[in-house]
Amino acid sequence: MTDHQTQPYAGPERVFSGVQPTGALHLGNYLGALKKFVALQEDHECLYCVVDLHAITVNPDPATLAQQTREIAAAYLACGLDPEKSIVFAQSSVPAHTELTWYLNCVSRMGWMERMTQFKDKAGKDAQRASVGLFDYPVLMAADILAYKATHVPVGDDQKQHLELTRDIADKFNRDFDTPNFFPLPEPLIKGPGARIMSLKDGTKKMSKSDPSDLSRINLIDDADAIVKKFKKAKTDVLGDMPETEAGLKDRPEVDNLVGIYAALAGTDKQAVLTEYGGKGFGTFKPALADLAVAHLSPITTRMRNYLDDRGEIDRVLKDGAARADTIARPIMDDVRKIIGFWRS
Ligand code: TRP
Repeated sequence: MTDHQTQPYAGPERVFSGVQPTGALHLGNYLGALKKFVALQEDHECLYCVVDLHAITVNPDPATLAQQTREIAAAYLACGLDPEKSIVFAQSSVPAHTELTWYLNCVSRMGWMERMTQFKDKAGKDAQRASVGLFDYPVLMAADILAYKATHVPVGDDQKQHLELTRDIADKFNRDFDTPNFFPLPEPLIKGPGARIMSLKDGTKKMSKSDPSDLSRINLIDDADAIVKKFKKAKTDVLGDMPETEAGLKDRPEVDNLVGIYAALAGTDKQAVLTEYGGKGFGTFKPALADLAVAHLSPITTRMRNYLDDRGEIDRVLKDGAARADTIARPIMDDVRKIIGFWRS
């Protein structure tokens, strides 16, 4: 090892994260990601991207892509992202993402890429028919982060491996070109309540927008009646009433998940929820959980609908965000080109 790693990265702290414009956002996205995005903007420079380039790695649909991009932007704003504080923009509107992806492709190793479990899951049995873009998805994600020299990345637990790859790519670039600390090695921000919200129908599977059963998730756009109904129908078990302690949640994944949702919404921990509801039946707990969820989500739903009715406002936010993001990325990309040694006049 050279002494590359002995000096800490000295650049400013910067937060970057992204959400794909595919399908409606749900409670898991809100508690696992968006709520954290909002908290971070209070004391960090933050970029929040709608990753439409990632969306076209599978089944691009030109008829709906732009509208889905606006929907994620509306959800960002409705959840409390303030476009004065945070930079909210679409990935495809800043050219640095695609350009840096190519340079980083030439730094990334096939062996690293072939270990990515999300590609294996998404490509399924017939990986030969998957797009090259789907395989390259993690490098595009690394480019998203490194084009801004972001140092902190709030993501779900399922993105941990991609973040580790980003660190490997950044480190290899720094070493290959002998530019110690040019790119930071970004840190994932994963932990905390709400980091992993599971399906309401199977406590061992993540809540997901691609689950065929709509009853498995609470969508941000669901109205109060739908929320109440979904919690009522949420799977529990036959092991009796609510336990009194966290130890009693062991081997009860569905109950554990509902308690976790309550705790994340109420801003407390699971034990506090069990102290209140331990020994009570689901007939008491589920309506209380539904009320809490409705109280939290209905203002978001209303704001989201209002934004979606005002396309001009969303488009203004995205355009302004793209210009601000580009201003950060441009000098970094100038340096990258110089470091690689391209001809220039
Ligand atoms: N792959 C991420 C996800 O599915 C989305 C994403 C793309 C992202 N680029 C990113 C997240 C950069 C964090 C940073 O959740």
